[in-house]
Amino acid sequence: MIRVCFVCLGNICRSPTAEGVFRGLVEQAGLADEFVIDSAGTSGWHINETPDARATEAAAERGYELGGGSRKFVAADFARFDYVLAMDAENLTDLRGLSRTGEERAKISLLRDYEAGAAGEDVPDPYYGGDDGFEEVLDICERGCRGLLDSIRNEHGLA
Ligand code: 4NP
Repeated sequence: MIRVCFVCLGNICRSPTAEGVFRGLVEQAGLADEFVIDSAGTSGWHINETPDARATEAAAERGYELGGGSRKFVAADFARFDYVLAMDAENLTDLRGLSRTGEERAKISLLRDYEAGAAGEDVPDPYYGGDDGFEEVLDICERGCRGLLDSIRNEHGLA
């Protein structure tokens, strides 16, 4: 089983979107049985809330279903996941701060490191902006998640 967790600040906009997009791509690829896919937030500000309605609606228009209640990423999650994908540089710093070993630290990367030409870039926080921001997040998540899935398939020899 390959275990993947997407992490943003609130776990109501970007990381649930990335989770839904990645799950959709994995299902399309016929690989659902190979993966555990989850998301979490560094802040814990929206615990148990469902994803932001703007994110849910924008994702639904593209055929992705967002779900789950918001939860806070905790240090114990490093043992539960193989890949921990930060949405932006602040999430990356916070996650590195929570990691306790080199092995844990090595599991963390930026989602956009898997998007051609976008290494080191953020998935912009759409929370205080307009609907365009949610479309941009979806565009970015589709590119990053495709790259991530390709990379994992290569690494794990999945057809
Ligand atoms: P997310 O977006 O990190 O993509 O879930 C945000 C959600 C809530 C807040 C900030 C960003 N907030 O300030 O409450």
